[in-house]
Amino acid sequence: MGKIIDVRTTYEAFASGADLSAFGEVEIYGWARTNRNSGQIGFIELHDGTAFKSIQVVYSNDSENYDAIAHITTAAAIKVTGTIVLTPEMKQPFEIHAKTVELLGDVAEDYPLQKKRASLEFLREIAYLRPRANTFQAVFRVRSVLAMAVHTFFQERGFVYVHTPEITGNDAEGAGSVFTISTEGTPHPYTDFYGTKASLTVSGQLHVEAFALAFKDVYTFGPTFRAEKSNTKRHASEFWMIEPELAFCDLNGDMECIEACIKFCIRYVLEKCPDEMAFFSTWIDKGLMDKLNAVLNTPFTRMDYTEGIKILQEAVKNGHKFDYSNIEWGMDLQSEHERYLTEEVVKGPTFLINYPEAIKAFYMKENGPDKVGPNGEKTVAACDLLVPGEGEIVGGSQREEIYEVLKAKMDKLGNTNGLEWYLNLRKYGGCVHSGFGIGFDRLLMYITGIDNIRDTEPYPRTSNALKY
Ligand code: 4AD
Ligand code: MG
Repeated sequence: MGKIIDVRTTYEAFASGADLSAFGEVEIYGWARTNRNSGQIGFIELHDGTAFKSIQVVYSNDSENYDAIAHITTAAAIKVTGTIVLTPEMKQPFEIHAKTVELLGDVAEDYPLQKKRASLEFLREIAYLRPRANTFQAVFRVRSVLAMAVHTFFQERGFVYVHTPEITGNDAEGAGSVFTISTEGTPHPYTDFYGTKASLTVSGQLHVEAFALAFKDVYTFGPTFRAEKSNTKRHASEFWMIEPELAFCDLNGDMECIEACIKFCIRYVLEKCPDEMAFFSTWIDKGLMDKLNAVLNTPFTRMDYTEGIKILQEAVKNGHKFDYSNIEWGMDLQSEHERYLTEEVVKGPTFLINYPEAIKAFYMKENGPDKVGPNGEKTVAACDLLVPGEGEIVGGSQREEIYEVLKAKMDKLGNTNGLEWYLNLRKYGGCVHSGFGIGFDRLLMYITGIDNIRDTEPYPRTSNALKY
């Protein structure tokens, strides 16, 4: 029996200067991408999923059962034995000259992925097969590497990873877009199991804040659920979110951490996934590399919400057409407004800060009288990171640490009941603290240039779409 190899470690061995011909007889398992032959000699592109690249397998009428091999079709599972031969004059640096090719799993004629360049929309309908397509080989490997980038960034800085619960009794954002949990067919759907209303988490923030006040720097990173019916390219009802929380840290420190984290993640992926990133910049977004390099080399701009409103009003005056053009201080910005600021004005990542209190979550730190709206309206120490092509990918804030101020806001909103423990954190050694939430899928879109969130999640969940 020959040495068992795979595509990834063989390319790595080659890159590190190992003598592949000294491997002797090798054995490799994978799937045929293509198979063509001239009657004398044939070529199978063997892909085994361990790398973006394939290995070319060459067989000839010397190989055992040449005819059977010639009939192997796209997607068939195969086992190849043979020897590695260096091919310095060819596009690929080496190939396998086959002694045997064994068919392990044949492919039915109705295999839907025959077409070389199927559309992303078509592939979305066959989510169980699309991981085999080039685009999704690249997307899902980068997704895996990006998750490691996130953990590496925080772990290297001593942050403690906290597994906040997926099932909760709170609506952490106070926005009402929660999925309620019940067991079927009981007369009390809200209380049947836990004896209290239960839902899937919309954010781990409140739970992780408690850990920040014990471990200083912490993060949670997991699935998040929102029953928003927004049918856009950027909204999913199940997505992943990274939520760090930093004790003894204000809004400025918060933004520094966000910027360092985004830049670290981009650098990490560029270094670990050169083949995948080259694919994206060839087939998905030609300007991707320039964009990412510019992001790495430029400090992120910070702009006050009030300033942003003035710029948008000015743009309308100068004839710029927005779908929603009635721009007033106090409004929640639409995606088109965010994109105008980050794409047309700043032309790069932009922190929009100090939003009106009325449009932001209850836990955000109230700013002082030096930062109020045109009619004295209160603002909060919030920051949204807006990026070209997408709009918001991160939302963060300094948290209200003053017990009385926070309690008054919660009482007014009516969500104090059940969140007394969260308020108590302000009574028991509370301190200035801040945090943020990075939409993991949106960050992946940004780094790969993929423009629909449905193409960044293995099995996307959106309203009226639950297949697989
Ligand atoms: O701005 P959001 O709602 O902030 C929070 O949830 C805070 N608790 C975060 C914190 O301070 N710890 O959500 C944070 C990010 C957004 O900027 C966006 O990138 C992403 O989560 N996000 C979504 N991504 C995909 N689909 C959705 N429906 C999303 N909703 C939010
Ligand atoms: Mg937000």
